[in-house]
Amino acid sequence: MRRIKVKVRHGYEVLVGRGLLKDCGMYIKSGDTKTRKILLVSETNVAPLYKDIAKASLEKEGYEVTEYIFEAGEQSKNLDQVTKMLEILAGNAFTRTDAVVALGGGVTTDMAGFAASIFLRGIKVYQIATTLLAQVDASVGGKTGVDLKEGKNLVGAFHQPSLVICDVDLLKSLTDEVFAEGMAEVIKYAFISDEDLYEKLKTKVTKDSPDLIDIVARCVELKAYVVEKDELDNGLRQTLNFGHTIGHVIERNSGYKIPHGYAVAKGMALISKKSRISKKLEEMLKLYDLPYEDPITPDELIAGIMSDKKKRGSKITIALVNEIGKCELKTIEPTEIKGYL
Ligand SMILES: NC(=O)c1ccc[n+]([C@@H]2O[C@H](COP(=O)([O-])OP(=O)(O)OC[C@H]3O[C@@H](n4cnc5c(N)ncnc54)[C@H](O)[C@@H]3O)[C@@H](O)[C@H]2O)c1
Ligand SMILES: [Zn+2]
Repeated sequence: MRRIKVKVRHGYEVLVGRGLLKDCGMYIKSGDTKTRKILLVSETNVAPLYKDIAKASLEKEGYEVTEYIFEAGEQSKNLDQVTKMLEILAGNAFTRTDAVVALGGGVTTDMAGFAASIFLRGIKVYQIATTLLAQVDASVGGKTGVDLKEGKNLVGAFHQPSLVICDVDLLKSLTDEVFAEGMAEVIKYAFISDEDLYEKLKTKVTKDSPDLIDIVARCVELKAYVVEKDELDNGLRQTLNFGHTIGHVIERNSGYKIPHGYAVAKGMALISKKSRISKKLEEMLKLYDLPYEDPITPDELIAGIMSDKKKRGSKITIALVNEIGKCELKTIEPTEIKGYL
């Protein structure tokens, strides 16, 4: 097992390994003797596979476990679900020293983390990430939140978890599509900051690859480094947005039919069209069955960027890669994006 420390104000560890789920209670207990009650949050795809294993381990350590299972999918990532969780927490007299455990992908970790961040002005959250995307990205870094009908992730809070558990064995049950989506983010890490990781990824990584622990751990280290340097997302953390400025527009214009990882893959490829790395990036996306083209026109793209919440004033900051492992940030007028396509 690998242990990665995230050295923010309330620092925590990310555990990456195999067979961790059945001992999740033990790992939580080892750093936390005060908690008595746990709200175990999961969803309808993940719970039938893994909830009982997690619950048994938590109960073995003496925790009193209440469950909250919601309908799987992004459409559940909303304030109604958060209200329901808060009511369960209050109804069961959870106190400041009790905790929420999220067991699921990014939808679950974002939403459970947000509920934990606002209940009694903040109780602990433990993230057990079950998708590749959640392991390498969503569960680490403390961004939590939900969607409004007006847009994704419009409501949220920074709330760092107390521990993150990434059991790569849980990835075996992912569909190929969901696994590939996570690989888009792994490829992103390689291109923005790690040439060695890029070299590793040239040999196709699958759900059963023996080096999956190394790969997830490396991505977590890279994210941890960025989060440590820029916890509140004002600078370096924006390098993680490589492919995301365009990706978000593609995702939204499709009515969220194009999944996030696919949209990011297209976004990375489009913003890199004139870069020296363009061909290598396309080859890698192809290797992982990810898309790298999209019919979006420059004008549609600019219109989409203008309405994106991430624009600061009239300018936007884009992440560019001209050399594998090196990312630069550029602040431009939205219309200037045309020059990159
Ligand atoms: N907080 C952050 O920093 C951050 C970063 C990136 C993404 N996100 C958020 O993460 C979300 C996307 O995450 P995601 O792709 O994990 O979505 P998700 O949680 O919806 O999971 C994707 C699909 O996989 C299923 N699933 C999850 N684990 C499984 C398993 N082990 N076996 C079988 N099926 C499983 C889910 O039921 C779902 O159908 C978005 O809401 C996004 O906004 C947050
Ligand atoms: Zn992403």
